[in-house]
Amino acid sequence: MDKMWAGRFSKQLDKLADDFNSSIRFDCRMYKQDIEGSIAHALMLASKGIITAEDSSQIIEGLTSILSDIESGALQFDMNAEDIHMFIESELTKRIGDAGKRLHTARSRNDQVALDIRMYLRAENEEILSMLKTLIEALRDKAQENTDVIMPGYTHLQRAQPVTFAHHILAYAMMFIRDYSRIKDAVKRMNASPIGSCALAGTTYNTDRSFEAQHLGFDTITLNSIDGVSDRDFCLELLSAYSILMMHLSRFCEEITLWCSWEFKFMELDDSYSTGSSIMPQKKNPDMAELIRGKCGRVYGDLVALLTTLKGLPLAYNKDMQEDKEAIFDAVDTVKLCISVFTPMIATSTVLKDNMYKAAQKGFINATDLADYLVKKGMPFRSAYKLVGETVAYCIANNTVLEDLPFEKYKELSELFDEDVYTDISLEACVNKRISQGGTGPKSVQTQIDFVTGFLND
Ligand code: ARG
Repeated sequence: MDKMWAGRFSKQLDKLADDFNSSIRFDCRMYKQDIEGSIAHALMLASKGIITAEDSSQIIEGLTSILSDIESGALQFDMNAEDIHMFIESELTKRIGDAGKRLHTARSRNDQVALDIRMYLRAENEEILSMLKTLIEALRDKAQENTDVIMPGYTHLQRAQPVTFAHHILAYAMMFIRDYSRIKDAVKRMNASPIGSCALAGTTYNTDRSFEAQHLGFDTITLNSIDGVSDRDFCLELLSAYSILMMHLSRFCEEITLWCSWEFKFMELDDSYSTGSSIMPQKKNPDMAELIRGKCGRVYGDLVALLTTLKGLPLAYNKDMQEDKEAIFDAVDTVKLCISVFTPMIATSTVLKDNMYKAAQKGFINATDLADYLVKKGMPFRSAYKLVGETVAYCIANNTVLEDLPFEKYKELSELFDEDVYTDISLEACVNKRISQGGTGPKSVQTQIDFVTGFLND
């Protein structure tokens, strides 16, 4: 096929080089944005008298028919085309003749692709944000159902202090709310239209960039034409936000994987989100959680790939930048896929409260509370801390726990102990007494649930 730019050349492009150069196999997914952008461009050109109204309406009609033919399957992408922009333009010219050749006035593929990718990402992120909301809602509901479920909270993966399962789950809800706002911020900064920057220096035509920007739903236009076509920082911001989101999902999946093990048995995933083994008949594996954890690495890879692609590029456009798309598309697909599996997986999971409670009963998880008890009776915290440490050592040596230590032993350790020590270090008391803001006490957990609900209703 003859290239649009063939005029300057005396030879055809080598077949392998042609395939190597072509991006249509992945940028074809931006066909809709490319057509919408071109319609706005034709309208602007006519409104400024750069092309006639007649040409503009022919172009728009042609583009509209191309869009519906692509969507109905009547028109297939030509994999020999250089990219989606060239494909649509040449198809337009095939359909409407000379008017089609006027569309590319005061425009370059450099600003065209910078526009298309922003519009594509705007739409995809709207979807990602709404999926994230559904995930956060599922977590809120899970928390709501488990406000009185006590589990061990960990540090260093060692039992540390009792918390409620609701509190634990809400920690993730807070992280996902921040992920939501990070993506929203990035989209807001991205929403400036580069179209009209042209190849790099602007154009000699009296264009109206704001007209096109407004028509396409942008908040503003990019103010420097070199910047408009050269930077992909918006892709990097999104990739960073996705990486952090995937890191949160991955940590959650790691915990779910642990919780599903016989060693923990805090959670059971629904059969519809678990898999078996080809050899071990007893197995029920949390493959979905593991895969999400695994796919986190892919998204980090996309971020690092694009950072590396861009780091040595002189201004303005360089063909290296075509590599932006596979990275960002892969990350978008992966994030969507992971959230869409994770949300129903967590929503349908069963919380094994008795096992969580049992695990919280051992491991001296109430030792801090025992020290706090002595502090309330007048002992300085450091002395109380030391005495409780010795008490724990005594219990370990005598194969018992703080709740079962005889009262005489407590009295021997310190005169400050009264009979109420047992109720004061019960797991329920440990949780209910955590009255500080943001703590695991019931009032704070309710405040957190209300905060998440407020976010969801916003
Ligand atoms: N397919 C190209 C890309 O994705 C479009 C821009 C091409 N511009 C150029 N001057 N060759 O980057």
